[in-house]
Amino acid sequence: MKKLFITVLAIALFTNPAKSDEGMWIPLFLGELNEAEMAAMGMRITAEDIYSENHSSLKDAIVIFGGGCTAEVISGEGLILTNHHCGFGRIQSHSSLEHDYLTNGFWAMDKSEELTNPGLKVTFLIRMEEVTEQVLEGVELNMNESDRSAKIEENIIKIKEDAVKDTRYNALVKSFFCQNRYFLFINEVFEDVRLVGAPPSSIGKFGGDTDNWMWPRHTGDFSLFRIYADSANNPAKYSVHNIPYKPKKHLTISTRGVKQDDFTFIFGYPGSTTEYIPSFGVDLQVNYINPVRIALQGKRIDIYKQAMNDSPEIRIQYAAKLAGIANGWKKSIGENRGIMRLKTIDKKEAFELEFQEWAGTSEERRLKYRTLLDEFKKIYNELSPVYRNSIFLGESVFGIELIKYARTYRDMVNASKDKNAGVEKIQALASDLKKASDTFYKNYQVAVDKDVFIALMTALFSDKDQSELPAVLTRLYNNCDQDVEKMCEKIYSRSVFTSKEKLIPLLDNYKRPDYKILEKDIAFKIAVETGIFANSRYVSVISANSLKLDSLMRIYMAAQIEMQPMKNFYPDANFTLRISYGNVSGFNPSDAVAYNYFTTLEGIMEKEDPDIFDYVVDEKLKELYLNKDYGNYADQDGTMHVCFTATNHTSGGNSGSPVLDADGNLIGLNFDRCWEGTMSDIDYDISQCRNIGLDIRYCLFIIDKFAGAGHLIDEMTIVAD
Ligand code: ARG
Ligand code: ASP
Repeated sequence: MKKLFITVLAIALFTNPAKSDEGMWIPLFLGELNEAEMAAMGMRITAEDIYSENHSSLKDAIVIFGGGCTAEVISGEGLILTNHHCGFGRIQSHSSLEHDYLTNGFWAMDKSEELTNPGLKVTFLIRMEEVTEQVLEGVELNMNESDRSAKIEENIIKIKEDAVKDTRYNALVKSFFCQNRYFLFINEVFEDVRLVGAPPSSIGKFGGDTDNWMWPRHTGDFSLFRIYADSANNPAKYSVHNIPYKPKKHLTISTRGVKQDDFTFIFGYPGSTTEYIPSFGVDLQVNYINPVRIALQGKRIDIYKQAMNDSPEIRIQYAAKLAGIANGWKKSIGENRGIMRLKTIDKKEAFELEFQEWAGTSEERRLKYRTLLDEFKKIYNELSPVYRNSIFLGESVFGIELIKYARTYRDMVNASKDKNAGVEKIQALASDLKKASDTFYKNYQVAVDKDVFIALMTALFSDKDQSELPAVLTRLYNNCDQDVEKMCEKIYSRSVFTSKEKLIPLLDNYKRPDYKILEKDIAFKIAVETGIFANSRYVSVISANSLKLDSLMRIYMAAQIEMQPMKNFYPDANFTLRISYGNVSGFNPSDAVAYNYFTTLEGIMEKEDPDIFDYVVDEKLKELYLNKDYGNYADQDGTMHVCFTATNHTSGGNSGSPVLDADGNLIGLNFDRCWEGTMSDIDYDISQCRNIGLDIRYCLFIIDKFAGAGHLIDEMTIVAD
């Protein structure tokens, strides 16, 4: 039975009808599934050139950068290219008042100046292999879910062990098509990765959060790093003796430029999509989760922005916090608009009617699938309001910095009360907390946080009946005559966490019994009791239902494939290496509006505003612009192209991915999507969804003409005419 099931899926996968540009494809199957279409769309290389286990291929130049981005090797000396926003944390960590690399940029003028980044890793894929049969070995149809997972877990451990025995590689097994298929990934991880170059934020983050997720875009979102290896070219921990890694493959770069309709593809690591969920799942995202996030995060963003406008000090203190919230917040808004516009829920409901009909057409299908959608509906009906409440409470209570920070003292209180915890442990915790407190207070403004408290608590108490809230909050609220401003005063005037001056002496001389001070602190109490309340009311319901949903999705995914044998299915993104392909193209975002596919330096000058932080233009860049000093990097039209859009289906994680041309040359660096198209994680639509990439010529121009780091260009392999 199990075999049959896999065969049905395999047949479904290998019958290839025409498709649109939608899809994030598994490189292993490119030859069977996509090559013909890619060739018809203009590709001049083969599937083997892109992914091969027998000889070097483009895949040998693609890496996971850190935990959530892609990067690519662009020289024979291990130089890698990724986004500025992917390297941001590293660039920031090297920055100080004397060396402010975030503001001024950083360029190593020779290898000795490159900066080490403890903890930063890059991961190469050595090979991948389907292991569905081995993973499902011993899994019986009538098994209950927990026995099933236990068996699968046991098999996976064995597969991984066998796969990397006596090698220096790592193994990973991941589920595809909602646990219907499994693939093994053999990876090689390098741990000595050094910072080579980064433009100033006025280039690398030009337009900031204002332009984020938007087209037309002018952000020079790139940074450069280098992989180091030991003398045998193998991964090694940082050492002065390490030498630049000699890669199996590095990308050639084309400065020929990009034209409307050119074939392009993107090779990288998209993180997560949910294209096959039922209408109820979309409803949960769009009507329960996103609106709460949009409303509550929006309140915080407004307060932060106002404070940042009023004070240069707060601008610096809250920049990273704002960027962190604003990216997800803005995406949720775009996603909701896109889903409404595409009528995704209606389309899914229409499909579900068809599905229901199909599921009634044979006894076997009736048995397997007929109740499936009802079961989904029942679970989502229960889950959706709980989810909303849980997110509402979390966003409002832990959106307050004081409460979120107080929560980090839980371990200390627990350890202090635990007789088995030794003095060393307590001392270590105190010293960690002290370090963390430096970072916290460096970027903390009580007045800003109080405004956030008032806004979020007002929202919470007007949305919720008191019976739905933790007693610690309702008690305070009622004791303060149901006035959140009074409540705020009470909490902020009493808590030790509001000031470093109160807290540091406590940490400096911390003795076990001091936990009593922490434990009775009002902010700490709110943090802990809200956590307990959320666990008992929401978390258990959510996790039990999520498990049920996983198992229903496994069946529903298989059923969708069975129902549409002529459709070429791609698996949802799961942070494994994928190929997306499409064409360079502008788009019409709304009635009467047409967007060109590329932007230029002229646009940077149009946006320039010395009074608005996001739109400051560096003097050197202005000078190059005024003298039209573009070196070999100008377009044939005489302008300096900055970014371009194409129809490649991408997601979070594709940041830093190479945009490649028909010959497999690097022509751009992916970093974002257009706002109108952010629903592509749920519903891709070729008329609205565009990926945004940096034109590689702008990147080279900045390295060469702006930074004077021509020695880096010399390392690269550039094809021009
Ligand atoms: N929106 C892009 C992505 O999802 C870029 C984010 C970084 N830029 C920013 N302004 N926050 O990651
Ligand atoms: N900006 C995203 C990233 O960081 C890419 C995207 O969501 O399109 O991966």
